[in-house]
Amino acid sequence: MNVGIKGFGAYAPSKVIDNAYFESFLDTSDEWISKMTGIKERRWAADDEDTSDMAYEASVKAIEDAGIQAEDIDMIMVATSTGDYPFPTVANMLQERLGTKKVATMDQLAACSGFMYAMINAKQFIQSGDYHNILVVGADKLSKITDLSDRSTAVLFGDGAGAAVIGEVSEGHGILSYELGSDGSGGKYLYQDQETHKIVMNGREVFKFAVRIMGEASTKAVEKAGLTADDIDMFVPHQANIRIMESARLRLGIPEEKMSVSVDQFGNTSAASIPLSIAQELENGKIQDGDTLVLVGFGGSLTWGAITLKWGK
Ligand code: ACO
Repeated sequence: MNVGIKGFGAYAPSKVIDNAYFESFLDTSDEWISKMTGIKERRWAADDEDTSDMAYEASVKAIEDAGIQAEDIDMIMVATSTGDYPFPTVANMLQERLGTKKVATMDQLAACSGFMYAMINAKQFIQSGDYHNILVVGADKLSKITDLSDRSTAVLFGDGAGAAVIGEVSEGHGILSYELGSDGSGGKYLYQDQETHKIVMNGREVFKFAVRIMGEASTKAVEKAGLTADDIDMFVPHQANIRIMESARLRLGIPEEKMSVSVDQFGNTSAASIPLSIAQELENGKIQDGDTLVLVGFGGSLTWGAITLKWGK
């Protein structure tokens, strides 16, 4: 059975925060942020707009794009580190708000690799034959857990959501291979503090880890699919830092024009980052039916996930 993306949608809040915003209260500059991260601006959700609201907006688009109704969804998975509450889960809230049947719902936490993990989880349920249309969402409101007094993290993060309806797709489409992993010994380098509830990061350690793992995980996924770098039409890395993305691209041997870059507009949106980048390329007509994509994420805990897939249904 070919399992892939039957419908897709993404959502970014309208409030744009440029780099100059941080210059008024932090010892930083647009020049430093642009040069060291590639980020020019990010979107922050409004105070009354939470993760479930962004997830809902992306989900409506994905369901419409799949050409199905909400009642056709038979499971909901949401990858997020910033759910509105620990419970009810965002997936649970979506069940009611979208008006699906009383289907199974779950949030999954693998930080910025979350969308990769949820897609692969959904794939197993579809392949079992028991489920047909699983709504997979990556949504994060990192602005609510960002420490604005810490210049080394404050400038990095943004908010957004992306959604995909995962199900059976036709021959020549769908997920070809994947690679998932984690290394709990790295948890101390990137975590949410239990008292402040803010992100704490050792940027240098995360940087070193990310450079190695993005290259390794995507190379393994490409090999497992029996492909080489020449077969890849679009490389969509987690949009954390342009320097990390560039080094992963070079390790994989992908030309510059085949790497999706949206970090300049959105910063690091965690589980929403890969889908927001895909949405950008779809809008620009740079992803076409049958194209071979490599998606690769890494994140806190530490976790990673890479997928090769043929785009389309
Ligand atoms: N403006 C100005 N200077 C800064 C800023 C800033 N915003 N942030 C850090 N600096 C300073 C540091 O204080 C340090 O100054 P010092 O030398 O006087 O001590 C100097 O810049 C160099 O700092 P480093 O941390 O060594 O710089 P580095 O080259 O590592 O870049 C960065 C920092 C951009 C944060 C980088 O480490 C990075 O991108 N790391 C990975 C981060 C990441 O991807 N995290 C997300 C993971 S995904 C998830 O799950 C949320």
